Amino acid sequence: MDRKLDSKGKVCVTGAFGFLASWLIKRLLLSDYHVTGTVRDPGNEKRLAHLWRLEGAKERLRLVMADLMEEGSFDDAIFGCHGVFHSATLVLKPSSDPKARCIIHTQTEILEPPVEGTLNVLRSCKKNPSLRSVVLTSSSAAVRVRPDGDFTSNVPLGDSSGVVNNTLPLSLLRILPWYRLFANCSIWYPMSKILAEKAGWDFCKENAIDMVTVLPSFVIGPCLPPELCSTASDVLGLLKGETEKFKWNGRMGYVHIDDVALCHILVYEHESAHGRCICSSTVMDNTELGSLLSTRYPSLPIPTRFEQLGRPRYYELNTSKLGRGFKFKSIQEMFDDCIASLVEQGHLPAF
Ligand SMILES: NC(=O)c1ccc[n+]([C@@H]2O[C@H](COP(=O)([O-])OP(=O)(O)OC[C@H]3O[C@@H](n4cnc5c(N)ncnc54)[C@H](OP(=O)(O)O)[C@@H]3O)[C@@H](O)[C@H]2O)c1
Repeated sequence: MDRKLDSKGKVCVTGAFGFLASWLIKRLLLSDYHVTGTVRDPGNEKRLAHLWRLEGAKERLRLVMADLMEEGSFDDAIFGCHGVFHSATLVLKPSSDPKARCIIHTQTEILEPPVEGTLNVLRSCKKNPSLRSVVLTSSSAAVRVRPDGDFTSNVPLGDSSGVVNNTLPLSLLRILPWYRLFANCSIWYPMSKILAEKAGWDFCKENAIDMVTVLPSFVIGPCLPPELCSTASDVLGLLKGETEKFKWNGRMGYVHIDDVALCHILVYEHESAHGRCICSSTVMDNTELGSLLSTRYPSLPIPTRFEQLGRPRYYELNTSKLGRGFKFKSIQEMFDDCIASLVEQGHLPAF
């Protein structure tokens, strides 16, 4: 049965201002949903103007204040909603003081807040009798970063890859050797996504909440918010000739932002959708990406060589859960749309 059958209904999107959430709201409004978006500063009309400009926003969008770090902050926004799309994220950076960068500091300052933020949202979901299901945005980083370090297999990484499906409780996952290994390698973002998703699954299981997680790879496309999010500014850097950020990407999956939004709605609307859903179009090495883009946009100083960090890690991503009917946009479409929007917003000169 389709979850959308009786009506399009009311949904909540957390972190409405953000890159992904803004596009998701655009797609939800176009699909006739009533949307409550949460932001930290609903009074800042200038910053939120891109949301009010969306088609259907004046009639069916409501923006309310909620902060992941304030217990119960999402209660009002979520109450009465049939669906909750949890996209807001806290990404905290490790201290620049090497003495402070111990595992305890990392755990308390960087890894706990995303877990607590996710649980905060889910506790509000539990209090809402109208709730049908939750769609949580995780990341392909949660399957890409592997504790065994084994990237030699030809089997594409799928929803059961990584450590989230591990049956060990979160408290035990936190003390396993891989956890310390990751912390020493400073891969805070994947660790925070792994732990937040795992905490979400444990909570939903205990409280019989229907949840699906979407794991997008690196999201490319037009940026609706006036400020570029970190991935969009990394892309801008690449287009201007910088290698610093993309050298860390090595081999990476890429996906168009519109496909990510459509995927969130697809898994929400179909009751048969379950578990974790990887959302990614093309996986390629940074050198392949650089060559493709520099040929397509010869007037941009796009680098084709990157410092090689560590041994090459070949992998593909298994997106079969979305079904054959879901057609991902190509890497060319992603960058054409992204570059057109960067030019329009004045981040890149017209060419
Ligand atoms: N971008 C990608 O390539 C990519 C790939 C895979 C997965 N993802 C995941 O997709 C989700 C959205 O990412 P994004 O790229 O769209 O990020 P983004 O543009 O930085 O948006 C993040 C949002 O989180 C909100 N937020 C931060 N701290 C908050 C707090 N304490 N309370 C409430 N809201 C808070 C921010 O709101 P304010 O406006 O109030 O600061 C912002 O709107 C994240 O879960 C991310 O991990 C992204």
